[in-house]
Amino acid sequence: MKKILVAHDGSKSSETALKKALEIAEKFGASVTVISVVPDLYLSELMEMDRLRILDTLTAEAKKVMNRIRTKTVLSRPIKTIVVQGSPAEEILSAAKKIKADCIVTGSHGRHGAQKFLLGSISSKIVDHSPCTVLVVK
Ligand SMILES: Nc1ncnc2c1ncn2[C@@H]1O[C@H](COP(=O)(O)OP(=O)(O)OP(=O)(O)O)[C@@H](O)[C@H]1O
Ligand SMILES: [Mg+2]
Repeated sequence: MKKILVAHDGSKSSETALKKALEIAEKFGASVTVISVVPDLYLSELMEMDRLRILDTLTAEAKKVMNRIRTKTVLSRPIKTIVVQGSPAEEILSAAKKIKADCIVTGSHGRHGAQKFLLGSISSKIVDHSPCTVLVVK
């Protein structure tokens, strides 16, 4: 276990996942990369300018969260962070392949889940399509 990728959407659940990932990383001497994907907006009624403005706001918010993680978390190795726009599951899986992650860590739920008894759609897609081990943290 050398490289751990944590999927973080700013939710409480992903914060719990990050904590668990850091515990594991410390034990294994692994490096941690945290990825936050700003989801594409498909609302057809949105004007292009509004769409871009919302994307900018969401990207700035995600970057703030990633900066806090980089500066505040104590680990013997520096934490890397990634902020990208796109389809969350696809971007997380492609980042895992790119950095050759040994494990992807996600929360069981995220920011938008209505049905708390079902696994979130993003964590579910990751479990289904991941090239490596996935840890879904509750
Ligand atoms: N945009 C994202 N960027 C990075 N990680 C994400 C993103 N969205 C979800 N995740 C990861 O997946 C976990 C589960 O969230 P998910 O989105 O699957 O559930 P949900 O929001 O409760 O339900 P849904 O989005 O399916 O309505 C989160 O805790 C986080 O680890
Ligand atoms: Mg979600």
